[in-house]
Amino acid sequence: MVKINENFLKLEKNYLFINIAKKVNAFKAANPDAALIRMGIGDVTLPLAPVVVEAMKKGADEMGVKETFKGYEDSGAGYDFLKNAIADYYKSFGADVSADEIRVNDGAKSDCGNIVDIFGDDNVVLITDPAYPVYVDSNRMSGRKVIFADSNEENGFAAMPDDSVHADLIYLCSPNNPTGSVYTKEQLAEWVAYAKRHESIIIFDAAYEAFITDPALPRSIFQIEGAKECAIEMCSLSKTAGFTGVRCGYTVVPEALKVKASDGTEVSIAQLWGRRQGTKFNGVSYPVQCGAAAVFTEEGQKQIKENIRYYQENAKIIAETMESLGIKYTGGVNSPYIWFKCPDGMGSWEFFDKMLAEIAVVGTPGEGFGKNGDGWFRLTAFGDRDNTIEAMRRFKEMLSK
Ligand code: MLT
Repeated sequence: MVKINENFLKLEKNYLFINIAKKVNAFKAANPDAALIRMGIGDVTLPLAPVVVEAMKKGADEMGVKETFKGYEDSGAGYDFLKNAIADYYKSFGADVSADEIRVNDGAKSDCGNIVDIFGDDNVVLITDPAYPVYVDSNRMSGRKVIFADSNEENGFAAMPDDSVHADLIYLCSPNNPTGSVYTKEQLAEWVAYAKRHESIIIFDAAYEAFITDPALPRSIFQIEGAKECAIEMCSLSKTAGFTGVRCGYTVVPEALKVKASDGTEVSIAQLWGRRQGTKFNGVSYPVQCGAAAVFTEEGQKQIKENIRYYQENAKIIAETMESLGIKYTGGVNSPYIWFKCPDGMGSWEFFDKMLAEIAVVGTPGEGFGKNGDGWFRLTAFGDRDNTIEAMRRFKEMLSK
């Protein structure tokens, strides 16, 4: 008889955003005329930058001509033209990453989940709470022990390492999803030092780095000395360049990252990851990689930054609303998310239901990201400007009643 992976039975029945979509669909069915505004899942709304579209079209045209047609890309790790562009981008803010250390993927979510394949199931995994649910779910699917580092109001939603607790794998996300908090260089250096003392590996999710405006804040863990011996970094073009529907990201596994196998031999993590990807992943399509490379050109950077500025202005509008109502919040600066305390001590799902029922605005209940999210709520700045303004008008009206 077939045996299932029973770890799946221990997960929440649905993934967070599927749960939310179900509630929203039920609301829509019951209120077909409601002017729904979505500020839940962090999905972008502005179209792709023209330079990206042109590069994708050119890539597609090349696929239709015998001389330039491309089948499998040899390594499956990404074309050199894109990996070199990403490596140069890292250099632009002082992180020394070489093209050989980069593997292109279909977005950070896949690699965040898939990376666990190369680590033993007996590792203890430390995840900051609240966190992007993929980290917890993908480790629980393999039955790993997951422990949490509390990110809360007291520590500014920036959990710090505690030497009395040992962890083998550590997930960090900065700028943070969902709280919008950003680790300073000094704070990240503390995590790197912890990882070295404990011989752990940090899995660093930098998906929101493009939203950092303060030059003193690190965009990559590889801006921290010694991180290349203890960290893997994942990044994505989803939020940076509107690729949620295109799918392209990258993972950096440094050459210097080595771990001892049980027989004492030194094993390269990059080699293991390459072996895993070689078997289970055939790479990203050529036209998409052409579009991704265009993001890193001078014109591409100019165009995507215009879109980012638009979302930053939305974030400002949301943050100003919270300020005017005297609601505690984090994020909104250096981050596309605003994380606020639910008014009147409400629970986060309770507040979700209230917002949906009373003002037809969808957000994300903090509890969906972990226990420290209860009583907190996340709104995304990735919406349309008029909708953002209208949602905040309704929000103020709701709370003034
Ligand atoms: C989020 O809303 O947390 C993210 O958009 C989800 C994702 O990127 O997968």
